[in-house]
Amino acid sequence: MLILGVNAFHGDVAAALLDDGQLVAAVEEERFRRVKHWAGFPDQAIQSCLAIAGASPGDIDAIAVSRDPRAHLWRKAWFAARYRPQLRLLTGRARNAAAVSGIHERLAATLALPDAHVRARMVPIEHHPAHLASAFFASPFDEAAVCAIDGFGDFVSTSFASGKGTRLDVEQRVYFPHSLGLLYLAITQFLGFGKYGDEFKVMGLAPYGAPEFAAQIRQLVRVDGHGRLELDLSYFRHWSDGVEMTWGDGEPLLGPVFTSKLESLLGPARKANTPVTPRHEAIAASLQAVYEECAFDVLRALHARTRSPRLCLAGGCAMNSVANGKIRANTPFEEIYIQPASGDNGTALGAALSAWHARGGRRAFVMRHGYWGPSFDDRAIGGALDARSPDVTRLATRHLLANEGDVCEWAASRIADGKVVGWFQGRMEWGARALGNRSILADPRRSDMREIINTRIKFREKFRPFAPSIHESALSEYFVDAVPDPFMVQVYPVRPEKRGVIPAVTHVDGSGRLQTVSPETNPRYWRLIDAFRAHTGVPVLLNTSFNENEPIVHQPSEALDCFLRTDMDALVMGNHVLEKLRD
Ligand SMILES: [Fe+2]
Repeated sequence: MLILGVNAFHGDVAAALLDDGQLVAAVEEERFRRVKHWAGFPDQAIQSCLAIAGASPGDIDAIAVSRDPRAHLWRKAWFAARYRPQLRLLTGRARNAAAVSGIHERLAATLALPDAHVRARMVPIEHHPAHLASAFFASPFDEAAVCAIDGFGDFVSTSFASGKGTRLDVEQRVYFPHSLGLLYLAITQFLGFGKYGDEFKVMGLAPYGAPEFAAQIRQLVRVDGHGRLELDLSYFRHWSDGVEMTWGDGEPLLGPVFTSKLESLLGPARKANTPVTPRHEAIAASLQAVYEECAFDVLRALHARTRSPRLCLAGGCAMNSVANGKIRANTPFEEIYIQPASGDNGTALGAALSAWHARGGRRAFVMRHGYWGPSFDDRAIGGALDARSPDVTRLATRHLLANEGDVCEWAASRIADGKVVGWFQGRMEWGARALGNRSILADPRRSDMREIINTRIKFREKFRPFAPSIHESALSEYFVDAVPDPFMVQVYPVRPEKRGVIPAVTHVDGSGRLQTVSPETNPRYWRLIDAFRAHTGVPVLLNTSFNENEPIVHQPSEALDCFLRTDMDALVMGNHVLEKLRD
């Protein structure tokens, strides 16, 4: 049975394809459109999933869409009666609901199938249950507590569930307008980071400051002993005026969600592209601290209810890797599973898995690695290089090596020499993190490497950290109380004695957002790290996504273009290796 999962008319639209409950392909639309967090409809992601599976649209048995505008209608009516929001909010919601309701037309056009055929196969899965399903049904656990925390989806911002076998019972919800995601978004915007998804920047900035504004930020939010949270709405406007939101084809856009009252509490808001001051760092630190307090309160309440030692986490807030790394120390949970697309992209996967189990399908799938996108063989890579032959010849040497061992040795020796290497291999990553198939790699031992990559290749804020990829077997040698994580979604302290060994991947507070690599999850990447270890004694590489202020590269021509236009030293694609000519 072939089930297509679709996230549409939200941020990070995506598609996932299941064959008899096994994931075959999963990919975000942004990689094809070359615009981060692409909203609207994932036409190309759907086509890519079908191509990877070798299936045609007529083979699809069910299409699970991770939205249900009919969910919580009485709640929506109660909200409108109680809060009397401005017309703009209601019309904005109605426009988005109409887009979702008309989704069968877009599906029919994309799949070139009759509208009636598509309608008969469509299954709406509410946004939050789709988040919950993406975590639990992809996890190795037969039984677990499950939690989703995000901005909003289908009028819900937080949900708790008990997962057992193929059942997922939602036990509690927090409804619009209260949301931890909105709290994080408001302060992110206040700090002058206005793009969709900029919360990562604030999380990276936080360790530079002390939480001096925590008392003030606590005034914005309250969590009770049952995990129910409430915002002080006088600081927010998403519930009253109707914030400008664009979820059509293109980059998602959000207007400001905070009111001027926030400035009376925290001082003037930072304007974009003005210097980041110690006050901004302290506000970022305070937000992160208060977010963690609230999230742990929610999770402790979930534990009190379920008594499970296992937690599956999803929702945009599950991308807060700093908080994730502290869950085991601050709650009774002992084991945690977070799949790499825990944001709205993952709802495509969750919707498909929900539909599979709703049809009586067994648990047949555990996501143990993140490589679910398209791949390109050496012939296709050679073709992309030939197409830019004059530029390649002018700027670089080019060779085709014989085998994986040679490729790993070639790259490792250059990384050990301080070169920055683009590394493009196998299937593209699912989720926001590059996990060693579309990565830029460098030597973590060099303290200047962060500055070099930020200023010569990535052209991004200097405060943003780089992540370590580490042999799973060496984890406890380098990190304190860390657990294996192939998806880079948890931050742990680097052992004090190792901070000087890997300074380029040790953040200012001594932490690292690690990715563990094993021969089972990514053999070629493991072998590369092993070759680097043979040169240096250090089984760690600096790993950052292969891109330059754009979505992660998808195909060889994009990787080559990024290599040629930036100051990257070498490029390895499949068995093809290129090295820049230097004077
Ligand atoms: Fe969401």
